[in-house]
Amino acid sequence: MEELATLADLPTRYLGELEKSNLVPLWPSLRNVLPPHQPMPQTVTTTWYFKDIKPLLLEAGELTPIEKAERRVLVLANPGHGLENMKASSVIYLGMQLLLPKEWAPSHRHTPNAVRLIVEGEGAYTTVDGQKCMMEHGDLILTPSGLWHEHGHDGDDPVIWLDVLDLPLMYYMEASYVEGGDLQNVNSAGHAHYYGKGIAATPYFIRENSAYPMMRYAWKDTQKVLHDLAQDSQYQGPIQVSYINPETGKDCQNIIGYSALMVRPNETVKLPSRSVAQVFHIIDGQINIKIDDQNFQLNKADTSCAACFSHIDLINTSDHACYIFIADEAPLQRKLGVYSVRERHAF
Ligand SMILES: [Fe+2]
Repeated sequence: MEELATLADLPTRYLGELEKSNLVPLWPSLRNVLPPHQPMPQTVTTTWYFKDIKPLLLEAGELTPIEKAERRVLVLANPGHGLENMKASSVIYLGMQLLLPKEWAPSHRHTPNAVRLIVEGEGAYTTVDGQKCMMEHGDLILTPSGLWHEHGHDGDDPVIWLDVLDLPLMYYMEASYVEGGDLQNVNSAGHAHYYGKGIAATPYFIRENSAYPMMRYAWKDTQKVLHDLAQDSQYQGPIQVSYINPETGKDCQNIIGYSALMVRPNETVKLPSRSVAQVFHIIDGQINIKIDDQNFQLNKADTSCAACFSHIDLINTSDHACYIFIADEAPLQRKLGVYSVRERHAF
């Protein structure tokens, strides 16, 4: 493609005239906003190690009482976007949150969608729209846009979880805001409207329609499905499941997609090159993740972020399976009609 003229090619007087009239010449910036062949992401490959996060998060528990934090979170920020902008990618926000025994993070609701992936600790719960969801290691809990949610902790040890939100997108759209609320009345425990395996609650034949019938995806159920897939001799593909809305079969949330992948002992999984940024969080086990020309050894609770069209290999050289939680921007890009998958090494 032809190299285009730059701002330096224009007279200063002319640029001044443009600025006075709130005008900007397109051609010096055209190749930036419409780069040839593929995007030029600000998102850079980044890894956050839990061994670095945990002591700082526990120290935050000493430095800042929950009443002064509302949500005690250290944000996993991508330096490519500027740390102060608190983005893992242009769409995805990641935070590691700490709740200490007997603490309560008060009820609120906001426009950004959120999920929690529980990293460690027992006895905490999230109440979402009146449903009390216990938080156990590896569980995924949804707190979708506009639904009241709060966190409590009846256990004895600190509980830590990973928050994933579409906050950067909502903020960019100038659609991000929060409302505070009162303690919720708990009306059910977790799987209130949907019990899995095609059975829903229908008291007196009344079927409650909900956009979000399932709030808690228990890790023990997800892990069992992964193991069943791995033992299915007819099945040849990667051992991966998506977190879906059980009523519709579609993604469990509108903007960010969530899945779990099991990499068997001594297995290498080469992921397709896709048009979305992706986050990898280790639920259990260890893995060598190769993102383009960078290698990282990830252990339990470590998290990596990769930009769009990265070439990603997941290499398990251990004797144990590795379980990886993946978040990506595919639901949003599919809705916008810009999602694509490319042959590896096409460029
Ligand atoms: Fe929230």
